[in-house]
Amino acid sequence: REAADMAMTKIGSWEQLAEEAQRRHGEEQGNAGTQLVFGEGRRDADLMFVGEQPGDQEDRAGRPFVGPAGQLFDQALGRAGIDRAETYVTNAVKRFKFEQRGKRRIHSKPGAQEIEAYRWWIEAERGLVAPDLTVALGATAARALLGKTVTISKTRGTALELPGGGRGLVTVHPSYLLRIPDKGKADEEMHRFVEDLETARKLAA
Ligand code: URA
Repeated sequence: REAADMAMTKIGSWEQLAEEAQRRHGEEQGNAGTQLVFGEGRRDADLMFVGEQPGDQEDRAGRPFVGPAGQLFDQALGRAGIDRAETYVTNAVKRFKFEQRGKRRIHSKPGAQEIEAYRWWIEAERGLVAPDLTVALGATAARALLGKTVTISKTRGTALELPGGGRGLVTVHPSYLLRIPDKGKADEEMHRFVEDLETARKLAA
């Protein structure tokens, strides 16, 4: 319990957040990415988006959602009438976790341990940005924000109270859309994702 209290140290400024991030996660080694990928965007955004963790390209660029999933996310935002530059975009876990296969670095899904270890950071960002609405993109973000596992299909698309305070909305992760092989189904799911983003835009307005 003491560890949990300490894990949620009150963060009062972006400088303090950066220091705390380096102190807690600066030294992580093994197959854990080359750098910490901080959230980016407007620090007074009405809308905040939370993904899972940086991917290979995000790790190289040091920026969230710049790879294939990020491009799909940008498309969906455009269709939903949301300007990404007006939002704050971050991840539940801030370091790429991967398995080395030859020259390729294959994404490993973050486990409960990583999600817990990084939860203080997402809560600190929510405290500093104070968005009207925080959108969880997929199950990892939903777990980080809600503190428990939820079924995306059952929770998606409607506003809910977050335990840390503030309103949240759960939807799918854009990489889910990239993995749907059937074109018709993929289009349909993209449409539903855009609808959830439109709901988010209206809730944050
Ligand atoms: N997937 C995520 O969840 N976040 C990123 O930044 C990139 C891909």
